[in-house]
Amino acid sequence: MTHTPEVAAFWDEPTGSWQYVFHDPATMKGAIVDPVWNFDPLSGATATRDAQTVLDYVRANGIDVEWVLDTHPHADHFSAAVWLKDRLGAQTGIGEHVVRVQTLWKDIYNLGDDFATDGRQWDRLFADGDTFMVGSLKVNVLFSPGHTMASVTYVVGDAAFVHDTLMMPDSGTSRADFPAGSSADLFDSLGRILALPDDTRLYVGHDYAPGREPACMATVAEQRRANIHLADAPDKATFQARRDARDATLPLPKLMLAALQINIRGGRAPEAESNGRHYLKLPLDYFQARPGK
Ligand SMILES: [Fe+2]
Repeated sequence: MTHTPEVAAFWDEPTGSWQYVFHDPATMKGAIVDPVWNFDPLSGATATRDAQTVLDYVRANGIDVEWVLDTHPHADHFSAAVWLKDRLGAQTGIGEHVVRVQTLWKDIYNLGDDFATDGRQWDRLFADGDTFMVGSLKVNVLFSPGHTMASVTYVVGDAAFVHDTLMMPDSGTSRADFPAGSSADLFDSLGRILALPDDTRLYVGHDYAPGREPACMATVAEQRRANIHLADAPDKATFQARRDARDATLPLPKLMLAALQINIRGGRAPEAESNGRHYLKLPLDYFQARPGK
């Protein structure tokens, strides 16, 4: 029996997001992680280019997709989980603390009581330490907050989908300044991830291809040795100071105020209005303007 999933990675250039399909070669059962539903904020147009690419890949390779997993409610892109679920008959899942993110953003968007904050928008909410099988592969769920308070890592054999915790070693770590984010929690989560075996393949959530081709994977040993935020083994206070200083220079993600409305609904637009059209709204003056370009 193998404990090594085959992993395919799909990069969304406009958002720098990595989407993954992993599968068990012995049974051809698989799962999709963090699929992107494309959105153009200038026109308001959505598209399913990325999700269609993923769908074409799993169909062409005969992969029976049982799960469409999100690692966290993303702030920089819409989740295509529901679109893919509807076409594949798969279940959706996310970390159980997404309910706290729903409650937080329900307040920010002033949503009515018909917006449920109990996570019913997903088929399964994962707690830390939960396990489930994909074919003969056991998936372990590792709660890994910091970037968001709901983030989880999916550990599958010798692979782990670490979402927005570590970036590629030359890019450091992910930001921790979103509402209820925490650089202290992120430090603790990084420690749990880097405690996995040295040869564990860590698949990151984003890459912005800084002067090189986009990359998605480095091992635990490579991250320990070369990650620019971690290679000098900072203590928690040092890491926090480093992370918080960097975050203070970052503008908010271009799609944050749009994306959370979709992603707290599990990857669905708000209910259509009387004309049959779906709308997003923006909270004026809830967030402060940020420096940056
Ligand atoms: Fe994220």
